[in-house]
Amino acid sequence: MIRSKREGKKTRIPFGTVSITPKSKRLIKEILDSGRVSCGKYVREFEKRFAELIGTKEAVALSSGTDADALALAVLYDFGAKRDDEVIVPALSFVATGNAVLQAGFKPVFVDVEKETLNIDPSKIEAAITKRTKAIMPVHLVGKPADMDAINKIAKRHGIFVIEDAAEAYGAEYKGRNVGTLGDMAAFSLYVAHIITTVEGGIIVTNKKEFAEILRSLRSHGRACKCGSCVLNINSGYCKKRFQYGEKNDIRFVFERVGYSSKMNELEAAIGLGNLDKYQEILGKRRQNLGYLMRKFKEFGPYMVTIEEGAEERIGPHAFPVIVQEGAPFSREEITDYLEKSGIDTRTLFSSMPTQCPGFKFLGHRLGDFPNAEYIGNNGFHIGIHQDLGKRHLDYFLDRMGRFLKGRTK
Ligand SMILES: Cc1ncc(COP(=O)(O)O)c(C=O)c1O
Repeated sequence: MIRSKREGKKTRIPFGTVSITPKSKRLIKEILDSGRVSCGKYVREFEKRFAELIGTKEAVALSSGTDADALALAVLYDFGAKRDDEVIVPALSFVATGNAVLQAGFKPVFVDVEKETLNIDPSKIEAAITKRTKAIMPVHLVGKPADMDAINKIAKRHGIFVIEDAAEAYGAEYKGRNVGTLGDMAAFSLYVAHIITTVEGGIIVTNKKEFAEILRSLRSHGRACKCGSCVLNINSGYCKKRFQYGEKNDIRFVFERVGYSSKMNELEAAIGLGNLDKYQEILGKRRQNLGYLMRKFKEFGPYMVTIEEGAEERIGPHAFPVIVQEGAPFSREEITDYLEKSGIDTRTLFSSMPTQCPGFKFLGHRLGDFPNAEYIGNNGFHIGIHQDLGKRHLDYFLDRMGRFLKGRTK
């Protein structure tokens, strides 16, 4: 195990970390003292700054990244989608992507991924499109941008929506544009493992005001505000006229659509605002960590590989993925057990949702239907590259990898 610099005690290398800044702590106290804790001015400020950061006109903050995926899809009911219509998603993702499609009332149609990029294979999308397809939801897995030009072209040809699952893609760029600005809407997670966090939370960005208005209604049970100045309920501080219960235009009990209960609260927004202040610093450190590992990792070439950064993209520094290659004289479990015993936290690189997640069995897919996703599901893992880690930690990881390989390949 590595020793901590300050106390010299043995310590693990954790997968994630959370930065709660002095500003967040000050805001939290202020909010608690004021008693105005539910969705209000700090959520609005967080949304405004988040939209500016990504480069969109609108941002709508929610309770989780899974809800961000689900509510973005639920917007499509206002544009002619029907229950049980289809949404195309990659077979490999964190299970939330598939769950969200089902929670929104749609059928997930899975497409295999590319082994090298971990992302949806655009050459297989068109064969999965039917009359009922309403959207493609590509995932930028571990911050690697999906092939958005190809995906958008297919979507345009078939008149369907593109909603990015950008949960893991902070800081990712594609052909000079920020990931999150490449489709009709994009969903980010603000869960504690992500680069910007509110501890629990999610947020949708979009350039379309109409989508944002529907999302504000959806996150609040599908309420509609008839005040003429806004579309939201008085609880969330959005209604300028603040109609009272019982008035002619009372909005509390007008529910225009099947909604969710998914508002962010002020305390979460306070943590997020502190994170936004530190975002460039955090991103810079993570980029440095990712770049260092990507350069050094080449030496493990024939047996273990990671993803590569293309000339026209920038990978968002979410985590460091490793894929054990066919023919390696060891299994993923052997290497991750060794790393865990050495004090390095590891996580598997998700699974093929339709064939390796028992919850999706009812959809009727069979093992072998998504060979690349299943391969990654059996052979992929990732480790943290967060802001509390530095060269010392990464060198320790590389040293352990080297020792393990030496023992297995001599
Ligand atoms: C690809 C992907 N989509 C969706 C989510 C869901 O986010 P949350 O955990 O905030 O619900 C995650 C979570 O990390 C994710 O990795």
